[in-house]
Amino acid sequence: MGPNPGLVLNDPALIAEVYESPRRTEFEKGNISEQIRPSTTDDTSFTAELRGDWVQKRAMEPTARPWAAESLADMVGPMQAAISESVDALLKRDAIDLAPDLRRLTFDAFSVALVSEKLPEQVFEDFMLLAKAADARIQAKLPLKFVKPPKGFEEAKARFYGHFVDRIREARKRHGSRAVDVMSRYLEEQPGIDDQVLAHMLGGTYFGGAFSSSVTLVGAFHQLNKHPQADARLAAEAASLMDGPLTVAKLDGAKWVEAVILESLRVLPAVRVMTRTPSKDAQLAGVTLPAGAMIMITNQHLHRDPAHWPEPDTFKPERRLDGGAVRDPLGSGHFFPFGRGPRACVGADFAMVFLKTALATIASRVKVHVDSTEPFEEGFFFGVVLPKGVTGKFVARTAQASLDVRVRSA
Ligand code: HEM
Repeated sequence: MGPNPGLVLNDPALIAEVYESPRRTEFEKGNISEQIRPSTTDDTSFTAELRGDWVQKRAMEPTARPWAAESLADMVGPMQAAISESVDALLKRDAIDLAPDLRRLTFDAFSVALVSEKLPEQVFEDFMLLAKAADARIQAKLPLKFVKPPKGFEEAKARFYGHFVDRIREARKRHGSRAVDVMSRYLEEQPGIDDQVLAHMLGGTYFGGAFSSSVTLVGAFHQLNKHPQADARLAAEAASLMDGPLTVAKLDGAKWVEAVILESLRVLPAVRVMTRTPSKDAQLAGVTLPAGAMIMITNQHLHRDPAHWPEPDTFKPERRLDGGAVRDPLGSGHFFPFGRGPRACVGADFAMVFLKTALATIASRVKVHVDSTEPFEEGFFFGVVLPKGVTGKFVARTAQASLDVRVRSA
């Protein structure tokens, strides 16, 4: 934690004090903003100061605009088509490494939702270089002034955000074509938006969501391998959704798909530690924290608190169906994978729609075999858990069904 004193919070009431009470403006995000800012720019809510222009920046985020729910509904079909194409490609491979392969699938689905197209390989590489640069700053043991950006950082940054600026300029020329992607919707609803600012927000979506969303899918498939009955139920529900185009209404009715995702977010939350820093000396939990001290808020223990969750370590999506979703809604004391209070994840609805679309599309088409259901090694990348060595294979459901028959008759 460095030279400053720190406090780890895992008590729901104290977390509410920092996240939700009127005192919340005493606590800023602190270091993390400084660490990731060169890669993420200053035009998103992520790095804004609560006591600065956070309210304005948050309100500008595409996922916070009044039309966000309609835009989400528009995304389902295009994302499903993109995910299905990724499934086709992964089916041809003898082996997959779930974390990087699902990250790429997620990046492509996000691109289709944001700008109606998958992006060139170079844009993905630039994104990863920017993310690695930020990660090096997050993990640095030295003061940040000694951490040099990697070779080609400025060029990659200019290309990455420049790509979105170019797309925005092209879209402005096509004005009136009624494309349904987030960029076109934004331009239609708020034509006065600055091209750079919109480009930064579109690019920021990948930093906010591509790692966390794909890691959630890795956790889900890992658990589903361990729990074949849950997987079979998922396959059946997913297949029933594919009768005609997938829609947000169908996803809303897909209770098992949702339960699997929520349970994955409980057992293996992708973002486990969030930080806050008092701007001035502050009293908390009976101690005085000097300005600049580090407060680490973790959901890991509360998501598995045996006093709250029966069989806390077991993946049981069914706990969501017997009133569990009402008992422990997202953002409550023992379940906050997207954080809590006014500064919780601004992309949570987007993430949930993506995750449901991805899980339903993948599960309807393939069984994701994972080589080992032993707990996997975890690192951290860009502040998000990074599962290591979770390898496996996609097997088409029809092929899987005949394999099962052969195994049964042997
Ligand atoms: C499973 C997927 C996701 C998880 C687990 C997740 C988790 C989180 C958490 C825990 C926070 C709060 C951090 C804190 O309190 O310091 C957060 C903030 C944020 N997330 Fe997400 N997120 C996900 C997906 C997304 C997506 C898809 C987007 C973009 C569309 C996004 C954009 C953001 C932004 C911009 C913030 C900062 C909000 C603010 O400070 O006002 N996230 N996320």
